[in-house]
Amino acid sequence: MDRGQNKLFYIRTFGCQMNEHDSVKITGLLASLGFTKTDRPEHAGLLLFNTCTIRQKAHDKAFSEIGRAVVFKNNGSGPLIGVCGCVAQEEGARLLSRFPAIDLVFGPDQIYKLPALLEMVKTQKRPAVATELINAADDYHFLDALETTKLNGPCAYVTIMKGCNSQCAYCIVPQVRGAEVYRSPRDIIREIEFLAERGCREVTLLGQNVNSYPEFGALIRQVAQNTGVDRIRFTSPHPKDVREDLIEEYAVNPKLCPHIHLPLQSGSDLVLRKMQRAYNTKTYRVKVEKLRRARPEIAITTDMIVGFPGEDEAEFQKSLDFVQEIQFDSLFGFAYSPRPGTEAAEIKETVPQEVKDERLQKLFQVQNEISLNKNQRHVGLIEPVLVEGRDKRGQGKLRGRNPQNKVVNFPGQEGCRGDIVEVRVTRALSYSLEGECERHG
Ligand code: 5AD
Ligand code: SF4
Repeated sequence: MDRGQNKLFYIRTFGCQMNEHDSVKITGLLASLGFTKTDRPEHAGLLLFNTCTIRQKAHDKAFSEIGRAVVFKNNGSGPLIGVCGCVAQEEGARLLSRFPAIDLVFGPDQIYKLPALLEMVKTQKRPAVATELINAADDYHFLDALETTKLNGPCAYVTIMKGCNSQCAYCIVPQVRGAEVYRSPRDIIREIEFLAERGCREVTLLGQNVNSYPEFGALIRQVAQNTGVDRIRFTSPHPKDVREDLIEEYAVNPKLCPHIHLPLQSGSDLVLRKMQRAYNTKTYRVKVEKLRRARPEIAITTDMIVGFPGEDEAEFQKSLDFVQEIQFDSLFGFAYSPRPGTEAAEIKETVPQEVKDERLQKLFQVQNEISLNKNQRHVGLIEPVLVEGRDKRGQGKLRGRNPQNKVVNFPGQEGCRGDIVEVRVTRALSYSLEGECERHG
């Protein structure tokens, strides 16, 4: 097939919400060039892999998927293959020597150039690589959903900043996403209002370090006051940047949902210091207390890393104890994975894989009981649930989320997708709630 003619594209996305949302923007950009999305890679004229490199496993997965895609290409015919996202940023032109079938490599800050890059590949008949990080606000292109995205369901993500200025010793994100750049409140509000006019009820403000946004509390207030969305969420915040204005917003702004995902990473002050997290258990505890005072029903969820270099049994036990003390609603746990170019990757005292796995299991054991316990407190309550669609496990139920961001499954009609309905919670599981519809809200 002529490589220029097939206007079907396939995109595979790995990693976090930032990448998911980047794929939405890429889809919009390609749509403006006349491309249509397909779920069948074998039909596509363009295959894209939006990759993640947060841990070695994610990086390996990207390589193996790219390796599999290369078979669609025989003797220069077949689809164009593009790699974007964080592995593209990290590896750059090295990807071309590893996989000569690749036509296009572009980093997260270069998405806006995709139309020009495709044109270059077509006319010059050689691969294009664009991995410059853009760290100056004046030069950065936040792709505006006004032009590039279509609303899919009642919930939407809106980028408010990019990059990360922190220097956590384990983390590759500053390398692959560059420095922080903030989008203007005007553009953010305009995009959210555009989405709200098309049926969006819940917006999640997005950024790698979302609450380092200057006057973050004021931004949330503006979104509540100047747009029609019912619910406001954000991800991911850094505990060090949880400031009084944000805490105050939880107390006074009913549209700001009672949930915060607040990555703790470790409950050992020694490990936190080595991680360069810029807080300790004492300052973290104070912020949790303030948040709970401001909004007693707030759900607090977290990320933990086990097996950071130098973490011995006593330090790990401190993580278990602190998790027990704080009583998170839920927790994502990860085995530490050394990332090239990070400070922690240079530390010699590593923890064996079996020990990391064991610790992870222990951590999950402790948390599962806490999660179940926390969820059981919802049983008997009537809660507003924003209906997102069908229950993922089938069973003919609907799936939505309550204000605390907990998944609630309940029997009901497809027609109420996008509605906020009153659901009586009847049963708690560790990872979700079950209920019955009381009435439409
Ligand atoms: N190894 C293991 N987990 C990591 N995370 C970030 N970097 C690493 C790493 N090198 C985890 C952190 C972060 C989440 C998105 O991924 O817990 O909050
Ligand atoms: Fe993965 Fe981090 Fe990139 Fe998100 S920002 S895709 S988690 S490496």
